[in-house]
Amino acid sequence: VFAAPPMNKNPLAELPYANKTENGYSLEFNDKNYSTASAELNGKTITYRAFEKIVYVSNPVEAEYQTLNFYVPEDYYQGKEINGYNAKTAPIFLPNAIGGYMPAMAAVASQAGHDGKTNTILQALERGYVVASVGARGRTLKQGDTYTGKAPAVILDLKAAVRYLHANDDKMVGDANKIISNGTSAGGAMSALLGASGDSADYTKLLDEMGAVNASDAIFAVSAYCPITNLEHADAAYEWEFSGLHHYSRMDMSRLNAKTFNDRSMKQATIEGELSADEIKISNDLKDQFPEYLNNLQLKDEKGNALTLDKNGNGSFRTYVENALVLSANQTLNGLNADEKKAFVEKYKGLSYANGIVSAVNLTEFVTNKARMKSPPAFDALDLSSGENDEFGTTTIQALHFTPYSLKNSTANGDIADAENIKLLNAMNYTDNSKAAQHWRIRVGSEDYDTSHAISAMLAVKLQMSGKNVDYALPWGVGHAGDYDLDELFNWVDKIAR
Ligand code: DHB
Repeated sequence: VFAAPPMNKNPLAELPYANKTENGYSLEFNDKNYSTASAELNGKTITYRAFEKIVYVSNPVEAEYQTLNFYVPEDYYQGKEINGYNAKTAPIFLPNAIGGYMPAMAAVASQAGHDGKTNTILQALERGYVVASVGARGRTLKQGDTYTGKAPAVILDLKAAVRYLHANDDKMVGDANKIISNGTSAGGAMSALLGASGDSADYTKLLDEMGAVNASDAIFAVSAYCPITNLEHADAAYEWEFSGLHHYSRMDMSRLNAKTFNDRSMKQATIEGELSADEIKISNDLKDQFPEYLNNLQLKDEKGNALTLDKNGNGSFRTYVENALVLSANQTLNGLNADEKKAFVEKYKGLSYANGIVSAVNLTEFVTNKARMKSPPAFDALDLSSGENDEFGTTTIQALHFTPYSLKNSTANGDIADAENIKLLNAMNYTDNSKAAQHWRIRVGSEDYDTSHAISAMLAVKLQMSGKNVDYALPWGVGHAGDYDLDELFNWVDKIAR
């Protein structure tokens, strides 16, 4: 079970909370309380107003995390247009910095970005977006003996931040009807959940209790990179895809800390090993569970064809995932000359190739290009040692199970999380919500083994079935990462928001 990891230091630690008054936190936006800053980006100077460290609830438990930083291009105050937007029409880009279901402070415009690249906030400002960078509580926060950030705290916090933006829309630059959420991994899962569950009554009572302002928490669009969602079905999905892999190279969870999780340029330490006979049995049990779950979803592709699996995990749903990989492979091949194409195809097992194009991917063979990343059960660990077990703890219990299988086979005498808490954390439960975001962009790298590719595929198909505008792709050669294609992401934003 986790030891509380060291927290990264808030770069705004020296600043006071922007909205703290003698009577608590004011939830009315103050447009006078800002600093002006400039940064160089692509040979241009970006000047912006920074409204930082705004606590977005009136009863914060962990004020340092329950804050948002709001950034506005200075040009909008000078009556100028940027990229076709003005002070009234600019979309609000809403990135979270959540990783590993850990607590995450709101990212700061002046901080460096992933892999030492310019940060996402500045790039968004350059495009003329207003940026609301949001923090949220996470699983390791503790005050005395009480945990303060277990599920569903993270999603409540994001919703409270969105409510703040809606409630203050008249006072803030940008259009709160054009909020576009962005996140990676656990942050991608929460971005998706935020979009799917907009204005759902399931969260109202909890939001009222924490002093969230009374306003809509619906958003316009979702960008989700490698969402680690649908946790209660992710163990079965993982074995559906990766059961053939017995060698693992997994994250060393005991050495994980908030600093490395909020900075995705840092490599996580790994542990190498082989699945034991017991683990192979668990893998087979879980794999056998998946077709029934998948078939019960009654998925259909864009043409109305049923996506199903037989009891061995084969069928049209598998082909759907394989075809997403085919598309991605061919996009990469497109830019290559004949020699490069040959080298590309020889590099990967599982590709059928002829006449310059990949005609099929055999998923079973394709996954053997890498070691599995998690040992079974991938998420609901029998000894309660996973980050997800920790996420589903309570104010007094550090970690819980969230699947019947791991409850039954627990080696830690673990209990199971409240069914309602499990429900509140899964975007799959809200895809048919009438206030769900209309526009979705979901990206998962072909080499991302942190969760099964089935997880994002099921989400994308369900959203498309409920009439959403869904752009789903598995970029070739990309691992577990986010924000690697910001130009394309922002082109997509302009297409839906302008
Ligand atoms: C993240 C990665 C994981 O493998 C996981 O199980 C949960 C979260 C992450 O990168 O946020």
